[in-house]
Amino acid sequence: MIIDLGPLATRERYAWMTATVLPRPIAFVSTVSPEGIANLAPFSYFNGVSSTPPVLSVAIGPKRGGVPKDTIRNIEATGELVINVVPRAIAGLMVKTSGDYAPDVSEFDVSGLTRVPSQLVRPPRVGECPIAFECRCLQVVKVGPASMATALVLAEVVLLHVADDVLTDGRVDPRKVDPVARLGASLYATLGEVWSIARPE
Ligand SMILES: Cc1cc2nc3c(=O)[nH]c(=O)nc-3n(C[C@H](O)[C@H](O)[C@H](O)COP(=O)(O)O)c2cc1C
Repeated sequence: MIIDLGPLATRERYAWMTATVLPRPIAFVSTVSPEGIANLAPFSYFNGVSSTPPVLSVAIGPKRGGVPKDTIRNIEATGELVINVVPRAIAGLMVKTSGDYAPDVSEFDVSGLTRVPSQLVRPPRVGECPIAFECRCLQVVKVGPASMATALVLAEVVLLHVADDVLTDGRVDPRKVDPVARLGASLYATLGEVWSIARPE
């Protein structure tokens, strides 16, 4: 089967893209509005970009009608975000925060997840998440036509939090993190088999 994505309706294109980039890690992004409301939302167009400097990418599409989501509005206004890693235990609450809530509603309150003050940035991190990256926005790259562009956020990690209880011998133990990944539609996954392959000398 060959799919020409160009002529498809936006929804169909989205469905093919998100069903074929597999699995996707989830950035659970906390930001603060200029009015001081703590916002929280998940984004699975997420990945690492570079280690030196430590930079992550999150791509934030517009809402219907090209209206920007609260997360990108807050990042553009304040330059700060925290990216939390979602363990399986809170997958349902993470999805709950993805509802279209008004800007003056905090998804921390909607979900009951715990705000933990960050050390270097204003947005709080999520207490239930074993890994959190305090970040400052390095650059926002607009992808696509201005009326409905996706905002690709390049976020520099200024402080990394790793809970002691996901470490084994001082290293992050992926089984203990138990991260949730997104697949297509409403499907999610956790880690399957984990194994090691030595690289060539
Ligand atoms: C698991 C998951 C992953 C998502 N990934 C993205 C994404 O990569 N980009 C995006 O624009 N929206 C994504 N969404 C939708 C946003 O979370 C949703 O639009 C949310 O309401 C945005 O909140 P905000 O307006 O508070 O920023 C995702 C939703 C879920 C449940």
